[in-house]
Amino acid sequence: MSTELRIELVPPHHPLPWRLLLMADPSRTAIKKYIDRSLLYLAFEYDMPIGALALLPQDETQAEIVNLAVDPDRQGQGVGQALIRTAIADARTRGIREIHVATGNSSLEALALYQKTGFRLARIEPDYFPAQYPEPIYEHGIWCRDRVWLVNHIDEPDQPIKPTGSGRISPVSDNPGF
Ligand SMILES: CC(C)(COP(=O)(O)OP(=O)(O)OC[C@H]1O[C@@H](n2cnc3c(N)ncnc32)[C@H](O)[C@@H]1OP(=O)(O)O)[C@@H](O)C(=O)NCCC(=O)NCCS
Repeated sequence: MSTELRIELVPPHHPLPWRLLLMADPSRTAIKKYIDRSLLYLAFEYDMPIGALALLPQDETQAEIVNLAVDPDRQGQGVGQALIRTAIADARTRGIREIHVATGNSSLEALALYQKTGFRLARIEPDYFPAQYPEPIYEHGIWCRDRVWLVNHIDEPDQPIKPTGSGRISPVSDNPGF
């Protein structure tokens, strides 16, 4: 990761990085409903926002990651992971004990990222996405159907995560065993 990278919790009314927020949530209307109530962490490189994480407190002890995005040019370089770790550390100081996040069954990178930062699979909502979006969504050749919820009990000590290989996902064609 670049030494020029810094992550900050920005004050309310800081200009919103719409380009980033819309990458994770294509609905401007939906973003407007939660963004003013969220803690917004931005990753800056030379004062340019290149990553964003919005954490929405649900009550005194629980919060939800409602938006997470990294500039396509800077993906795969640890920025997403750094945003999550910063948000977790800050949330802890605010008395938050659980952070929840939802993603799709086909979002393999996000599922890897969250589990590497201490989240565990909690529950699924079967057929959530077909009910929300008229056009079917595919990622990695997988139909995105189910909404998967993960939870991170941030008051518990981190479990060591053992790396196996690079952790990168190869296209299906590179995996003839599958
Ligand atoms: C999801 C997203 C925020 C990840 O940010 P990122 O900065 O690229 O993530 P990191 O570089 O910190 O990667 C952390 C982990 O995620 C996983 N990951 C990221 N890119 C991956 C890829 N192409 N293949 C497999 N795993 C990947 C890896 O496990 C990686 O850990 P590693 O570095 O030990 O291999 C980013 O890809 C993004 O903005 N996507 C579009 C917006 C979006 O879909 N947001 C919703 C997220 S639910």
